[in-house]
Amino acid sequence: MSDLHALIQKSAEKTESILDELLDKEAGLSAPVFEAARYSSLMGGKRLRPFLVKQSCSLFDVEEKTSLRVGAALEMIHTYSLIHDDLPAMDDSDLRRGKPSCHKAFDEVTAILAGDGLLTYAFEVLSDQETHQDPAIRCELVRELAVAAGMHGMVGGQMMDIAAEEKSLTYQDIKVLQDKKTGALFRFALLSGAIIAGKDDQIKSALGQYAEAFGLIFQITDDLLDVEGNADQMGKPVGQDPDKITFVTLLGVEGAKKELQALEKKALEAICLFENKSEYLRLLLQYVISRRN
Ligand code: IPE
Ligand code: IPE
Ligand code: MG
Ligand code: MG
Ligand code: MG
Repeated sequence: MSDLHALIQKSAEKTESILDELLDKEAGLSAPVFEAARYSSLMGGKRLRPFLVKQSCSLFDVEEKTSLRVGAALEMIHTYSLIHDDLPAMDDSDLRRGKPSCHKAFDEVTAILAGDGLLTYAFEVLSDQETHQDPAIRCELVRELAVAAGMHGMVGGQMMDIAAEEKSLTYQDIKVLQDKKTGALFRFALLSGAIIAGKDDQIKSALGQYAEAFGLIFQITDDLLDVEGNADQMGKPVGQDPDKITFVTLLGVEGAKKELQALEKKALEAICLFENKSEYLRLLLQYVISRRN
């Protein structure tokens, strides 16, 4: 496991340095939007999505530069989603990644624009030929990320999350909601290597099954940490979901923990065809289950 920690750390450092390189600083009247985008992108975070991109890419020996740029583009989308999610009109959250949220460090207008800017820039990075020499592959990456991030994916999930407040949802409803809200970006990360290497549907379906279980494991632990975690370790407020239906309110703490074990088993089965190459994807499941932030 310590190997895995070191690898995650190293991958996070590389992600930060490519984000630092890609995100410009600019003088003049537009400077605040650049500063705010850099502030939110470079102020920490687990960088799990770029790590999953890296692991998917190493299954198929994809060049490191490509996987770093794809991971950075995905992290930009994730960061934009967090900036907008924290705004007063959404979750009204003042703390993110252990620091004041973007709209607190700057102001609401700048935070909205920084989110818009990161969302758009992610596609500029993906479609640049520095990312991959083959335009057909770049085009597929752009399309898949657009589907994952947009109304059929994360944005749709955010809408469902807001609309679901005060409604009584079943386990199946929550699964669909979370699959869009959080699962879609993880799925893109895990499929990215197979897209770049032009792999067939059988490979993509195995990674998709792992991604589905991984997304649920991630969200169930997020819900558990909202009940059992602490804000200092989490770097964001806890106890935010008292009136919300979550996996934990539906299954109870013990039921949620049992579900985690069942999902881990499913995820492990899905990737057994990759044998030794998937070692870190295997270890990552326990890492996410036992995370404290
Ligand atoms: C937070 O995601 C938002 C959810 C989807 C629950 P992460 O827990 O991956 O956030 P960072 O990137 O580490 O801050
Ligand atoms: C975060 O969702 C944003 C997206 C996943 C799009 P949440 O509101 O559930 O996450 P936290 O708890 O603020 O990180
Ligand atoms: Mg939210
Ligand atoms: Mg939130
Ligand atoms: Mg949450």
